[in-house]
Amino acid sequence: MTMAGNCFLRVSTWLKQIYLPWLILLYNREVHAQLNDVSCIVHNEEFMECRWNHTDGEANYTLFYWYTSTSPEECRNYIQENGYNVGCYFSKDKIIEFENFYLYRNGSSDSGSLTKTFQLQNQVKLYPPTNVTLNMTENNELLLSWETPAKLLECRMYEIRHRSNKDKVWQVQVITAQTKYVLSSVDPTKFYTFQVRSKINQYCASTELWSEWSSAVHWGKDPIQSEYTIPLIINGNS
Ligand SMILES: *[C@@H]1O[C@H](CO)[C@@H](O)[C@H](O)[C@H]1NC(C)=O
Ligand SMILES: *[C@@H]1O[C@H](CO)[C@@H](O)[C@H](O)[C@H]1NC(C)=O
Ligand SMILES: *[C@@H]1O[C@H](CO)[C@@H](O)[C@H](O)[C@H]1NC(C)=O
Repeated sequence: MTMAGNCFLRVSTWLKQIYLPWLILLYNREVHAQLNDVSCIVHNEEFMECRWNHTDGEANYTLFYWYTSTSPEECRNYIQENGYNVGCYFSKDKIIEFENFYLYRNGSSDSGSLTKTFQLQNQVKLYPPTNVTLNMTENNELLLSWETPAKLLECRMYEIRHRSNKDKVWQVQVITAQTKYVLSSVDPTKFYTFQVRSKINQYCASTELWSEWSSAVHWGKDPIQSEYTIPLIINGNS
């Protein structure tokens, strides 16, 4: 081994001895904080779920909630796993936006008690766009279009990602208002994949939550299918 290699080895051993225990400690604290946290998601403005994780030996928690204009109530529809409460289901009529929403979770021990405050318009996670289609225009451009419910139409923004079989990373574009996207330089030898997702835009709320990605749509000759058609048929996997 060279001098430099030896020296590197010693430094990295030292780093491992000093830093690794710290990293593990910090990581565990982080994970524990996340496990113990409550997160609330308003699914497509239709219903809300506030969830936490239950680990063995932890208390069975109860959840209370209220708005600025209402008095505290206990959750009426607990989500349960293995007999323990792990969340609360809220129907649409229990969701009030643009007002502070407070929750208080407690159990028999103090360790898992917490209070949190949200505004629920900022917790909305939309359903992904549907009917995503690709059409080739007369100018050899690829036109991606999708559908989205009329509800909240002016509040939506979209993220489009596409990648060809020759790219390692996704190309990402963010747009508002339109429900279509044009890719102008299309290479006919490539195989393209597109997906879209949707989010409430910054003019309507300040959510960080994107919808899931839509199902993928493709354009071009699938290199895998065209090369391996025969083995796939033999395996019965086609
Ligand atoms: C936890 O509390 C819920 C009611 O809030 C109850 O239905 C459930 O049985 C309790 N689970 C345990 C393990 O005590
Ligand atoms: C949780 O808080 C509520 C409201 O303050 C209280 O009635 C209840 O006894 C508490 N539960 C436990 C297990 O301490
Ligand atoms: C794309 O093509 C399909 C048929 O393949 C057609 O039904 C649809 O209207 C076209 N969409 C656009 C935006 O031109």
